[in-house]
Amino acid sequence: MTLLDAPLTADHAASSPLLDVERLKVTFRRDGKDVDAVRDISFQLAPGKVLCIIGESGSGKSVTLRAIMRLLPASVRLKGRVALGGHDMLALPERRLDRLRGPLVSMVFQEPMNAFDPVYTVGQQISETIQRHEGLDNRAAMRRSRELLDLVQVPRSEERLNAYPHELSGGLRQRAMIALALACKPRLLLADEPTTALDATVQIQILLLLRRLQRELDMAMIFVTHDLSVGAQIADEVAVMYAGRFVESGPASSLLRYPGHPYTMGLMASSVGDKPPGALLEAIPGQPPDPAHVVKGCSFAPRCSRRIEACQDGIPPPVEIAKHHIACCIRQRS
Ligand SMILES: Nc1ncnc2c1ncn2[C@@H]1O[C@H](COP(=O)(O)OP(=O)(O)O)[C@@H](O)[C@H]1O
Ligand SMILES: [Mg+2]
Repeated sequence: MTLLDAPLTADHAASSPLLDVERLKVTFRRDGKDVDAVRDISFQLAPGKVLCIIGESGSGKSVTLRAIMRLLPASVRLKGRVALGGHDMLALPERRLDRLRGPLVSMVFQEPMNAFDPVYTVGQQISETIQRHEGLDNRAAMRRSRELLDLVQVPRSEERLNAYPHELSGGLRQRAMIALALACKPRLLLADEPTTALDATVQIQILLLLRRLQRELDMAMIFVTHDLSVGAQIADEVAVMYAGRFVESGPASSLLRYPGHPYTMGLMASSVGDKPPGALLEAIPGQPPDPAHVVKGCSFAPRCSRRIEACQDGIPPPVEIAKHHIACCIRQRS
């Protein structure tokens, strides 16, 4: 079986998926050399479902999201296919894409200051997006902006419409960015480590908010995190990413219970999860590889306590752990 034969959301794949990514490859040019940051990933996502992509820093999570939304510089090479709501995202001209970013897909970033322009108020920026896409007049767009701030539970929303982004606390700014991302009711929300920069209590509030909004608005979401315990709280499906590939994927219920890849097991052991404060976390030894220097065979092998010589022989093919749950590790067969 190949990854393509085992889509993440196979139950829904029969009805058409909202997002269908096939053999996506993203190549940067660095110091005169081609560097593959994303290597051949394939998955599907059904409408209204949450996929969580988990992996250490540098594994290619942000690049994957940016490729789906085509937010990468023109010099970056994209291969494969990204079909979103029936649109061929990698082939569309920029002008068409611009109209789809907002109503079809939008993104929440780790650092809200990247999404907001510091010289305009929060209200001006949200209502500008609404006006551009929906042709409402200024008053109606401002009213909608206030409703959006209420939806994301920003207290004193009227007052906050007139605030500049730097005048809000980190947590409120993140809520305002979520409001901006939701302004055109996207069918797919891409959330790139949206809680990482926040302190623990605010993290949980934002996480619960996203989950609630995702359900209420029946929106699909890809949630990216390096912390498995965060992802586990909201995911329907999980994909574990290492060195530009999905090394394990499947329904959250199965993957979190029966992790099949040593890397997933390592992430679980190093995740705070339900462990008591101060408990010792087992970190995965070593560092993720630089995509410019990946090894032959399984990229995780140099850090893997279960490696054998055959791990160097080739890219490990997917092995089925449970229904729709696969892990790319040759030790699964032994
Ligand atoms: N604009 C770029 N030019 C060259 N390499 C890049 C660029 N953006 C990201 N990369 C490389 O792609 C790899 C994956 O990055 P990224 O997707 O940001 O990782 P993650 O989000 O999982 O932490 C990293 O090795 C990073 O250095
Ligand atoms: Mg990232």
